[in-house]
Formats: sequence, structure tokens, C-alpha cells
Amino acid sequence: MPSEPRHVWVDGALADADARHLSAFDRGFQLGDGVFETLRARGGRSTELDQHLARLRASADGLGIALPPTAEDTITRGIDALLKAEGLATPDGDAAVRITVSRGPFLGRGLLVPPGAIDGATVVVQAWPVTSVPAELIERGLHVVTSAVRRDPSSPLGALKTTSRADHVYARIEAHKAGADDAVFLTIDGYVSEATTANVFCVRGTRLETPSLDCGILAGTTRDWLLGWAGRSGLEPIETRLLPGDLATADEAFLSSSVAGVLPVTRYDAHTIGDGKPGQWTKRARADREAFIRDGSGATTT
Ligand SMILES: Cc1ncc(COP(=O)(O)O)c(C=O)c1O
Repeated sequence: MPSEPRHVWVDGALADADARHLSAFDRGFQLGDGVFETLRARGGRSTELDQHLARLRASADGLGIALPPTAEDTITRGIDALLKAEGLATPDGDAAVRITVSRGPFLGRGLLVPPGAIDGATVVVQAWPVTSVPAELIERGLHVVTSAVRRDPSSPLGALKTTSRADHVYARIEAHKAGADDAVFLTIDGYVSEATTANVFCVRGTRLETPSLDCGILAGTTRDWLLGWAGRSGLEPIETRLLPGDLATADEAFLSSSVAGVLPVTRYDAHTIGDGKPGQWTKRARADREAFIRDGSGATTT
């Protein structure tokens, strides 16, 4: 299959994608003791790479995973080498890039690793061609349901992008069982948090509303961009606490993430959002974000 990667970058070198790479003792595999980032690279140029590398380091620091001071340069070279090897650095190349860092292999047992027992973190870069979201999904909009999994905004782990994603996998399975496309987490006190791999936005009149950072969300790079975009485009950006009823009664709603960009949402649980079709602001946000990823432009469509 052409979309299957042929290479992977592991600890400083390219390897065949189907070779054996990591130790079975790796803490990432054993315990989800790791952090990661996913980003989009068009024409070999990584979108918002600095923001992703800063969040990767902040997540690693948060879990006490030591990254050398040169890690950002090494990872950047790794991305370049991998994109070239995969044929995704061409002018029309469009890649989803994942950087994964785990604490590394530890031959002992237990949650804590004695000082000096691990030589260094495991660092992996993967890349896949971006397959465009099916046109019919963009036209009908996503259907999302509320997950039974709740978010605790006071958890120190909420802001870290860790590889412990069982909650997210569980919620996506819930969504598929319900015949929906994705699930939305609520906080333990009942506010809208985020979707399984994306932030949530609502358009209400001329307001662009999104859950604030105290709602157990990941501070998405695309979310940041959209808050700036709103100001430039004639929408008032509002970070606030949203109740499920606020999402259900919005004029428009959409999800945002680095790889998929802006995805319209037209159904939330039993509610039709707006007129049940992707709204004008949503379409404009999607087009402008795609243009920004393509050529770095900050322009907005009119
Ligand atoms: C749980 C979660 N929230 C939000 C996002 C969006 O973040 P970004 O825009 O930086 O991709 C992601 C992206 O993977 C995510 O996994």
C-alpha cells in the first residue's frame, strides 16, 4: 500500500519501517511512560514546529523525562531526513509527522527508575502521507457524542501530551459504537472539555467560543492559531466554560487539530447544530487554516 511508511527514524538513525526497533522493556511500551507530538508538514516544511517542540519539552519536563539540550535540533534533522526518505519533502508533499519520546528501556520492574538506570530517552519520528478527509464527511459534518470518560481540570497531567491514551482510545470506541465520528469529554463538573484528538469550537453570532485552559484541555497549536485568526477575521475570540447545552445550541461548531485542521461538527448527541450543515465561518476557518499550512500565509479568505 503506498500510504504505508517505508522508514522510521529511531534514536538518530533511519531504519526500515518493518524492522524491530525498540526494547520490550521500553517504558513507553510497558507503562505509557512517554510523550508525543503530531504535526503537519507541507512541502517538507513543518507547520508550527517551534510550538510543537516547546510543548514536547514541556510534556517531557512534566513527566521528568530528561531530554538533552540539543534534542530540538536532533529531532528537526530527524524529521527532514525522514520526510526525504519517504518522498514527502517534495513541493506537493503533505505529511503527518509524529514525534514520540519515551523514558527509555529499563530492565527492572516498578514505576520508579533508579537514577542512572536508563542511558537516555528513546526518540522516534514517524511520517505518513496525509490522506485528505473524505469530501462527504466535510460536507455533512462530524457527528459527536459525549464520552463517559470525564476530565479532571485540576490534574497536573492534563496539560501534558503523554502517550497514555487509553482514555482517548476508549472514547473513540464509544463514539464508533454509537455510530458517531468522535467523542467529546466533559470535565468532572460538567463543562465541555475537548474531543479525542482535537479542541472544540462554537460560533454564536459573531463570537468564536472555545473551552478555556481550565477545562482540562490540551492547549492546541491549532486552537491558538484560530484564536488569532478570529480576531483578524471579524469574530470575537472567547475562551470560556461551555456547557453541553451551549455546544448543542451553537450556530456552528467545529474541531481543530494539527493534522486534520478544522472539521465541521453538525450533530452533538441527539442535537442538530445550527441548520445541520457546516457553517460559513467553519468553512472559512478550514480554508484559511489549509492555506496557512500550504504556504504559511496568515491571510483570511473574504
Ligand atoms: C486531546 C487533544 N486535544 C487537542 C489536540 C489539538 O492539538 P493541536 O492543535 O496542537 O494538534 C490534540 C491533537 O492531537 C489532542 O490529542
